[in-house]
Amino acid sequence: MLVKKAIFPVAGLGTRFLPATKAQPKEMLPVVDKPLIQYAVEEAYAAGVREMIFVTGRHKRPIEDHFDMTFELEVALEQAGKTGLLEVVRSVKPHDMECIYIRQAQALGLGHAVLCAERLVGNEPFAVLLADDLMVGSPPVLKQMVDQFAEWRTSILAVQEVPADHTRRYGIVAGTSVNDRMVDISCIVEKPAPEDAPSRLGVAGRYILTPGVFHEIATQPRGVGGEIQLTDGIASLLRREKVFAYRYDGRRYDCGSKEGWLQANVELALSHPEVSESFRAYLRGLEL
Ligand code: G1P
Repeated sequence: MLVKKAIFPVAGLGTRFLPATKAQPKEMLPVVDKPLIQYAVEEAYAAGVREMIFVTGRHKRPIEDHFDMTFELEVALEQAGKTGLLEVVRSVKPHDMECIYIRQAQALGLGHAVLCAERLVGNEPFAVLLADDLMVGSPPVLKQMVDQFAEWRTSILAVQEVPADHTRRYGIVAGTSVNDRMVDISCIVEKPAPEDAPSRLGVAGRYILTPGVFHEIATQPRGVGGEIQLTDGIASLLRREKVFAYRYDGRRYDCGSKEGWLQANVELALSHPEVSESFRAYLRGLEL
């Protein structure tokens, strides 16, 4: 197994979801019946990752509680004979999965958050998952990337085509195609204006990175928004190592925006075994 560790930067303030995120982390917002962070952790687990490193901030206790044992709840469910629900609760943290929490004292940006986990990651390749981006794929998107990494042994970023007027929301990459899905990146820019964007290939919140990126992030000046950007660290890494962009096979919901989060709820509800049928009937009956 080549990628054993994943970093989940979860220290953001979630201002776009206020007031829902006033006292709870945005990563705990549910889509149908599961918090966003659990989707991301399950995706990493399905890709073979067993060490989950959460870079947290203030008000992030609910995330730690979520992946902890809930003794009273488990006893109550057991006594009530609710074995199905007990299984749901217990499966949140499989026995062979380890959760580690580290605080990012100051919110200095995504690059800084990743750098906070440097000592925990050490000298091995690792994944970064942004829980805001809910990815649905079969196989799961990070698993697709881990399989590609096994072949190419170099950093890989998940990318997709984005509309020209959305380049300001993403890291944008350009390069030469290696095959249908892979691009050998020659440049990467954080949130360029459409007229400055080198392409329309936008980075989604999934990365597999080689440990060399830590040194590059550490030597970055502040970038877009006055933040230490992961994108800038990757741009520096490009001078020493190859970095590939991978056009993933799947669907991404931008759950950092209200619209994306609503879309995720509707679409995942439509494929949820418990509610799909009745919810579909309800949607059909809506007079839009
Ligand atoms: C971050 C990254 C950006 C990437 C995006 C994907 O931006 O900085 O390069 O394209 O995630 O969701 P954020 O959405 O945190 O502003």
